[in-house]
Amino acid sequence: MGIIKKFYITKFKKERPKIELKNISLSFNKRQILDNITCTIREGEICGLLGPNGVGKSTIFNLIIGLLKPDYGSVFIDKKKVNNIPIYKRSSEFKVSIVPQNGGVFSDLTTYQNLNAIADLVIDEKKERLFKIEYMISKFELDAVKLIKAKYLSGGQRKRLSISMALLSNPKIILMDEPFQGLDLISTRSLQETIVNLQTEDNSRCCVISDHAARDLLNISDRAIILANKKIIAHGQPKELIRNEEAKNLYFGNTFNIN
Ligand SMILES: Nc1ncnc2c1ncn2[C@@H]1O[C@H](COP(=O)(O)OP(=O)(O)OP(=O)(O)O)[C@@H](O)[C@H]1O
Ligand SMILES: [Mg+2]
Repeated sequence: MGIIKKFYITKFKKERPKIELKNISLSFNKRQILDNITCTIREGEICGLLGPNGVGKSTIFNLIIGLLKPDYGSVFIDKKKVNNIPIYKRSSEFKVSIVPQNGGVFSDLTTYQNLNAIADLVIDEKKERLFKIEYMISKFELDAVKLIKAKYLSGGQRKRLSISMALLSNPKIILMDEPFQGLDLISTRSLQETIVNLQTEDNSRCCVISDHAARDLLNISDRAIILANKKIIAHGQPKELIRNEEAKNLYFGNTFNIN
């Protein structure tokens, strides 16, 4: 495999925090899921979020977009505490966009109608709207299924549609929950390139991505966070993370490698 990512942000010029979670704890029905989570995701970085099933990765995304509130602790975006800022305001004020783990599309609308429904909300100019929809259809190779209802798309096609919808608004913060799930090899490679290009196009944009395709994800991540047993057990650059003993024991196993 050739090099997709030409540079990794190992030293941040500004170290400007984009998203900060401070001492976050959260329980569902008295079952504790997150215990005193503190971390910073910096402006311009691609950050992987890894951990076993049920550890709380999607929950963290929901805390960032405002679908959930923590029991304790605070969420900051651009240094502003957002605990009480509703979901729609977080999306418009901070330009946060999410590719959810499941769904994210309107089943009874066609591919085109799905894109149009979001474009209508986020792009004012009609000409730009039409251009952007066609651009996404071509970029994510959805032309053949443009007029097919989303419920009839294959898993990978639906995922590509959901990703293209999330990118329509030109977001500054992109949260992707298992974007590689169901993608074939060429689509995986193409999505990796898309994500790296999103960073190259706008070096203040940040992407937080959770996926079990750990190798595909770590190959494009500047840094990653590993969760296990309700806590962050390791946080750093991929190459050092895969050597971290606790991360090996609780997530990667002994034989995992990247590149
Ligand atoms: N609304 C809810 N009510 C009760 N429990 C919930 C709720 N949402 C999530 N959970 C529980 O919280 C835990 C974390 O769920 P979450 O979806 O964040 O895991 P995840 O790390 O994204 O897992 P996966 O890798 O399988 O997607 C799970 O045990 C789940 O059952
Ligand atoms: Mg999840």
